[in-house]
Amino acid sequence: MAMESVDLLIVGASELVTMAGGPRRGDRLKDPAAIPGGALAARQGRIVAVGPSDEVLAAVSTGPDTLVIDARGRAVIPGFVDPHTHLCFAGDRAEEFALRLGGATYQEIAARGGGILNTVRATRAASQAELEALGLERLDRLALSGTTTVEVKSGYGLSTADELKQLRAIRALDRRHPLTVVPTFMGAHEVPPEYRDRPGAYVDLLVEEMLPAVAAEPGLARFADVFCEQGVFSVADSRRILQRARELGFAVKVHADELSDLGGASLAAEVGAISAEHLLHASDEGLRRLAAAGTVAVCLPGTSFSLMNAPYARARRMVELGCTVALGSDFNPGSCPVYAMPFIITLACMHLKLDPSEALAAATINAAAAIGLEAEVGSLEVGKLADVVILSCTSHRHIPYHMGMGVVAQVVKQGRLIVDDGRLVRR
Ligand code: NIG
Ligand code: FE
Repeated sequence: MAMESVDLLIVGASELVTMAGGPRRGDRLKDPAAIPGGALAARQGRIVAVGPSDEVLAAVSTGPDTLVIDARGRAVIPGFVDPHTHLCFAGDRAEEFALRLGGATYQEIAARGGGILNTVRATRAASQAELEALGLERLDRLALSGTTTVEVKSGYGLSTADELKQLRAIRALDRRHPLTVVPTFMGAHEVPPEYRDRPGAYVDLLVEEMLPAVAAEPGLARFADVFCEQGVFSVADSRRILQRARELGFAVKVHADELSDLGGASLAAEVGAISAEHLLHASDEGLRRLAAAGTVAVCLPGTSFSLMNAPYARARRMVELGCTVALGSDFNPGSCPVYAMPFIITLACMHLKLDPSEALAAATINAAAAIGLEAEVGSLEVGKLADVVILSCTSHRHIPYHMGMGVVAQVVKQGRLIVDDGRLVRR
């Protein structure tokens, strides 16, 4: 067999967690498909060999330009895929956090004109260039935590011009930063103040003007998402928006049953959504429908943690009922300032009752399925992007045990080292 010349070779792993074999449900969620002492080789950003060290070393040749990483007996895993963030925003909500510590609820703050609308004011006032600068810094922090692919939603503009500004900033982030950034249009995140007394007219605007404007510009959004919630978008309004989005060629997502059981999970299944997110209050019936529709159930335990008075999603029940369960951060300035996936994995083990290997599958290959990228990222298999994390511990099962802290030593994105010894490698 001809030796393949490679530009990246990772050797010396205690275990190479491949997550091979596609998204996982049921009992398979527990299987990380780990190769003890495995190795991995890549060329031009894609994996060309993965397996036991002797087999990989026999199949590839290295040269002076090959980056050789010795994992020195630590675990190697796929880069984290974060399938749900709102990371493109200006301003902060630290004062609302203080109010919540004093007992105010997220909904009370929102009803007083704070909450999402607080961030809408700051984001409308920011230029696209300012949003990009803030976004680049946040993507650096995600990279330091081992995230290599991230979905980012708009939804702090809430006017055609401001949503387009946000989506253009998100598109620029994908071009300017090594991480893969997947854009979602979420003009249906909240009803803006100028439509408060006629929310139906805002739904008309979404359907007649905003969605078509986003669809007309290439690369602005892959998905459309709706906050289906009491006092935000009803099931009927959400259905109308999501159906229009589908007609225009978007795959759809739903913020479902986050603060109450409105039937968002059932709606997500009905419209064939790729994923339903949050699901803190979703009923068994809703979860059964998600499982039957193949809609990925995205759990965001950082939000329950940060909201303090919210329940955690019933992830064990989801697994029992046959859902594909994924994990995301929900990073946003209000309900969840958490972006570190290792900490999300910790919360998932402690509060969603996932086993450490299950939680890692949910944060990699299943998260990739939640954004339609399971053929590209989320596992270490030949042909996929060489997005790899070298941990500072000897087993992937130590990620939650260390409470997610200090577990990421090195990060490789598309074959290039972007984090070394826990620090950014400057571009
Ligand atoms: O996922 N639910 C709606 N959106 C976010 C909160 C956004 C914000 O508070 O700024 C969420 O929790
Ligand atoms: Fe969210």
